[in-house]
Amino acid sequence: MIVRAENTEPIKKKTQALCYFVAEKQDTPFGFSKIDHRLAAAVKQACREIKGKLGSISIIHTHGMIPAQRIVIAGLGPKDKITHESIRLVSGKIAKKSSELGLDEFCIVSNNLPLGTKTAASAIVEGSSLSLYSFDKYKKEKKSRQPNLTILVSDPTKISDIITRAQTVSDGVIYTRSIANLPPNDCSPAQLASFAKSLAAKNKVKCTILSKSELKKKGFGGISAVGQGSKNEPKLIIFEYNGKRGERPTVLVGKAVTFDTGGISIKPADKMDEMKFDKCGGCTVFGIIKAASELKLPVNLVGIVPSVENMPGGESYRPGDIIRLYNGKTAEILNTDAEGRLILFDALSYGIKTYKPKEIIDFATLTGACIVALGSNVAGLISNNPRLTEKLKQSSEKTGEDIWQLPLNDDYMEMIKSDYADIKNVGAGRAAGTITAAAFLANAIENTPWAHFDIAGTAWIQGGSKDKSYNPKGATGFGVRLILDYLSSP
Ligand code: BES
Ligand code: MN
Ligand code: ZN
Repeated sequence: MIVRAENTEPIKKKTQALCYFVAEKQDTPFGFSKIDHRLAAAVKQACREIKGKLGSISIIHTHGMIPAQRIVIAGLGPKDKITHESIRLVSGKIAKKSSELGLDEFCIVSNNLPLGTKTAASAIVEGSSLSLYSFDKYKKEKKSRQPNLTILVSDPTKISDIITRAQTVSDGVIYTRSIANLPPNDCSPAQLASFAKSLAAKNKVKCTILSKSELKKKGFGGISAVGQGSKNEPKLIIFEYNGKRGERPTVLVGKAVTFDTGGISIKPADKMDEMKFDKCGGCTVFGIIKAASELKLPVNLVGIVPSVENMPGGESYRPGDIIRLYNGKTAEILNTDAEGRLILFDALSYGIKTYKPKEIIDFATLTGACIVALGSNVAGLISNNPRLTEKLKQSSEKTGEDIWQLPLNDDYMEMIKSDYADIKNVGAGRAAGTITAAAFLANAIENTPWAHFDIAGTAWIQGGSKDKSYNPKGATGFGVRLILDYLSSP
């Protein structure tokens, strides 16, 4: 999608759709200027009809009264509650409508919005471009039509950098979705590693892949154990991006189980297909690395993505096994379906030991319990560092990627102590499943500032997901915008 900004007066603009926002209790849209009285009356009438309700849309055909073929009025909800998120959602609606109508282009008037030109522009671009994505790689009939967008604003030079930035960020999210949506037969750990190589080559990022034998030799006991049951061998993918001299990096870790059957502790058949999305955490790291390097962010980043396929078979690891993890701690396996924490553990301890990072942040579709606790619109956050948590919460506010912090204290650490090994890979029954998973990971962390995101509910659209125009079916790319905002904030 091509986006431009212009200061053409809206009523003089030749376009297929001239789109305005309107708030509740208003009968004049934002940035609306005087036009032919009959058309003005129609616009007023449309505003009254839709009542400015969030996401509502009305279309007025202009029959040559102005150069624009149509005026589109889109409701933003109550004026005092207009946020980045409402503009993002409504821009997504407008873009989808334009695409459905088969338009080649549409214009959005962003003058006089209460949020400020820059904020509005980035939300308009994100909402529009993210809503037009659809995963149609395997369909003969391609659904997604990509009309171009012109933002009409009085000072277009002020927002040209913002537009480029928002497009790069959105491209990062779309890249994450496009690999996360791949079916498991076309996205083995080796295939994921080859995507990593080409991404890194294009973006001048360093990329190292560790193979099954190297992982075994170097002591990655968690990745090796989970990966041993599949003929698709495990890989450890490592990106290094250097945007700033002489500073310790931020390490980003993402779970990439390309398919999670549960292993010997096999999952029920219902919805097992969705476990192709068990690689979403890793895909989030891919998207962040891509966008951060394209934006040339002045930070150092390391992305570590452990990738395995969790399969039952004659070679699989078993309940009862005791394995040795990367930092030397031993873990008793009580359920082979609690595999994510094992591969993440190795990646986290490797990242801390190798890079001495200033902070480490991980993403994982880790526990069904997180969906039970928080549903499908809010990710779980567990952290050992209040400052990091505070900053992440601020970025969450801005990006509309909702998070909620859960506690982690010594009582939870007790719950994963094992009778026969240092720790065990499940807690006590169903109790606090998201937290006991994090307690397991905490054994890899020591004192490094750490934030863990459980994105089991938010990584893809599921039964309980809120309908958001900019999140089409499939993987959402959750976390990419959040972390890019975090990395860009002082
Ligand atoms: N990938 C799953 C978690 C999951 C399940 C995410 C459903 C999204 C939707 C993870 O590997 C898993 O199976 N976790 C188990 C842990 C349990 C065995 C302690 C779970 O949540 O049931
Ligand atoms: Mn599992
Ligand atoms: Zn899993």
